[in-house]
Amino acid sequence: MITHKRLTIGLFGFGVVGEGIYQVLQQTPSLNASIKKVCIKHPEKKRNADAGLFTTNYDEILNDPEINLIVELIDDADEAYKIVTTSLKNKKSVVSANKKMIAEHLAELVGLQQEHDVSFLYEAAVCGSIPIIRNLEEYYDNDLLQSISGIVNGSTNYILTKIGEGLSYKESLLQAQQLGFAESNPKLDVEGFDAVNKLTILLAHAYGVVSKPEDHVRIGITRLQQSDASYAKEKNFEIKLTAQTIKLSNGKVAGFVLPQFVTRDSQLYNVKNEYNGVIIESKLADKQFLYGKGAGRFPTSSAVISDISALTYDYRYEYKKISRHEQYVLTNAYFLRVYVSFNDWAEVNRWDFEQVFEFHSTDERQYITGLIQVDKLRNAKWFNDSSVSIILLPEAVVENEAVVGQTLKKASLQLAGVN
Ligand code: HSE
Repeated sequence: MITHKRLTIGLFGFGVVGEGIYQVLQQTPSLNASIKKVCIKHPEKKRNADAGLFTTNYDEILNDPEINLIVELIDDADEAYKIVTTSLKNKKSVVSANKKMIAEHLAELVGLQQEHDVSFLYEAAVCGSIPIIRNLEEYYDNDLLQSISGIVNGSTNYILTKIGEGLSYKESLLQAQQLGFAESNPKLDVEGFDAVNKLTILLAHAYGVVSKPEDHVRIGITRLQQSDASYAKEKNFEIKLTAQTIKLSNGKVAGFVLPQFVTRDSQLYNVKNEYNGVIIESKLADKQFLYGKGAGRFPTSSAVISDISALTYDYRYEYKKISRHEQYVLTNAYFLRVYVSFNDWAEVNRWDFEQVFEFHSTDERQYITGLIQVDKLRNAKWFNDSSVSIILLPEAVVENEAVVGQTLKKASLQLAGVN
């Protein structure tokens, strides 16, 4: 019989999620967890709780021997890093939702948990209310897991949905901010940084690959053009910002964040607004789909509460796949099927493409679709050109072996009439 441990919590941050957690814990004594102190930055702000609950002194919480769980819900990733690492070193369990901090320091944070024999849970950091991390930890074994492909950022999905309904980019972003979905620096959302942070965390739990956010190809939604939306409409596609990791052959794994044309038969097609959706493909089960709210006060609180509850029975991530005998390795040795639109042929070197499927020219905008090696794409001058829009075609990943080579590239370009 499992005995539920009593948790005495030190909370950092009393924003929308922090206050929500405080209220839920007060109303749910069966959770066996209560908040002893809350550390805040601005004591002058009026709050819906007894003034004696608050402090501005970190150490009052971090050095309190009675506090056995730190719940860290602040915005500042650098401060969060200090709080989390000190807590783990002080042998206090930690729950956090700070995906940026976790992704940037993953290797160290995994090491600290092992060294100090303490638990660090962060389900709320990836896909809000969707229990993706625990599923990857507990259910999907390495050999069976083929790929993860998902919409993991609620704000960009909200913006793309609203633009599709006729709102401007600016107005849609403003709404995402007002509704509390967007990061305080929304560049993290719209440039794909938030999604790539979540992908970095997913990779560790899916394949045991500990990487850095900058290891992955990343493009957000800021470069999308009206002509791209027209192309999508014509082909019955939706444009979604996707984070993907795919197992290739020989223990290699691909990971990237890019906008993608999604077909009507994909489960991601109907994921709208702040919802997230993740397709997990495994060898035997084939495709499975997790769907839920990825941002906002209550969905995030739901995951934090679930982590707190799991800690009452001492749950911890085991990172089994990281210590696996045969390690998976992140690779760029694969090809992507992409659509690239631009203003002038001078901007994009078509010889960067291994194969060209089609190209189209109008007075205003040109596009090319084709197959490109990932390093070529990443190193291309036009990769960082904000006037060039890069969108994945459906079923975008092609492994090396499937590509016939240089001769075909040349032939396909000539066939397309490109000099
Ligand atoms: N800004 C994030 C998003 C919040 O829009 O998904 C949840 O992680």
